[in-house]
Amino acid sequence: MKIQGKEYRTIWYENKVVKIIDQTKLPHQFIIKDLNSVKDAINAIKIMEVRGAPLIGATAAYGIVLAVQENNNKEFINKSADELIKSRPTAINLKWAVDRMMKNLLNVNNDLILDIALKEAKEICDEDEKFCENIGINGLEIIEEIYNKKKNTVNILTHCNAGWLATINWGTATSPIYQAHKKGIPVHIWVDETRPRNQGANLTSYELNEEEIPNTIIADNTGGILMQRGDVDMCIVGTDRTLSNGDVCNKIGTYLKALAAHDNKVPFYVALPSSTIDWNIKDAKEIPIEERDSKELSNIDGVNSRGEIENFLIYPKKSKSMNLAFDITPAKYVTKLITEKGICDASTEGLKNLFK
Ligand code: MRU
Repeated sequence: MKIQGKEYRTIWYENKVVKIIDQTKLPHQFIIKDLNSVKDAINAIKIMEVRGAPLIGATAAYGIVLAVQENNNKEFINKSADELIKSRPTAINLKWAVDRMMKNLLNVNNDLILDIALKEAKEICDEDEKFCENIGINGLEIIEEIYNKKKNTVNILTHCNAGWLATINWGTATSPIYQAHKKGIPVHIWVDETRPRNQGANLTSYELNEEEIPNTIIADNTGGILMQRGDVDMCIVGTDRTLSNGDVCNKIGTYLKALAAHDNKVPFYVALPSSTIDWNIKDAKEIPIEERDSKELSNIDGVNSRGEIENFLIYPKKSKSMNLAFDITPAKYVTKLITEKGICDASTEGLKNLFK
C-alpha cells in the first residue's frame, strides 16, 4: 500500500539486511530501520517496532534468516528459534512461521541453508500478501451487500490496527475496505483509538489517510453509543489467534465491542489468514495473554513544539496500573469469519469446511 504515494511492503530483505518500517515512530516520523542480527529481530518484535500477528510471523521468519547468516551452527539456530517464539506470546503466527522455517531447514547442508531460509521467508511474505488480498476480495461482498441495500456510505467500525501495517500488505480487517474503496463504494471508517498504544489512531487512521479513505478516530468507549444510534453498519477486526471452535483472541477491547454489536444487532466480522488459526488449543482459557509494561498506560508519546517525539507521564506517580494486551471474544458473538478461502461460520464445522 502507499505512503506519500509510494508503494511499500512492511518488511523486505536487501543486501543482507532486513528492512522494516519502525511503527513506534508512526504517524509522526516515517523511518525505515535495518535489522542486522537475530537479536535485532527479537528486539523489534518485543518493543513493537513491528507488530500485528502476520507481520511478527514474517519478522520471525526473517529473524531465522539473520540467525543463519550470522552463524549456521545448528545449536545457534535452534536457540534463536526458541527466543524468537518467546518474543511475544499471544499471536500464533509467530510460532507458526518459526516452525515452518525450521521444518524447511531440517537436514539441509550448510552451503544451501541460507538460500533455503531466504526462499522460505520470502514465500511466507508473498503468501501472506496473497491471502490478505483474497480476504479483501471475499469480504468485499459483505460491504457491497450493505451498500446495495442502503445506497449510502457504509459505516464500518474497526479496532486496533489490522491494516496493511500489521501484515505484509493489504491488511486483514482493512483489506475488504480497500477493495470496496477501489470499487467506488463509499465507506467511512470509525477507528477505535485503541489504548494504551493507540494502534488505531496512530496506524489505522494514518494508513487510511494515505489511501484517502474517510475515517474518524473515536475514543474506545464511543462505539457503543454509535451502534445504538444506528451509525455503525458493521464491525470488522483482525485476530492474533482464532481457535478451531471460532473463539477469537484479539487486541484488548475487542470483546466489549463484540458485546455492544450483539446487543445492537450490528454484524461483527473477524478477518484472518489461516496462519492465525490455532488448531491445537481447545479452550480459550489456555491462550497465553500477553501482559505488557504498565508504563504503556501511565506514559504516552507525543510530539513537542519542535516536532520531536517525547514521552509524557499522564497518571498519578503513585498509582498502580495493569496492562493486559488481548482479550477473547467467544464465537457466539462473531457473525462470520472472513478468510483467504472464503467466509464461514465461527465454528468447528465452519472452519473445517473451508480448511479440510
Ligand atoms: O499488539 P499488536 O499491535 O501486535 O496487536 C495487533 C492486533 O491485535 C491485530 O488486530 C491482530 O494482530 C491482527 S493483525 C492483521
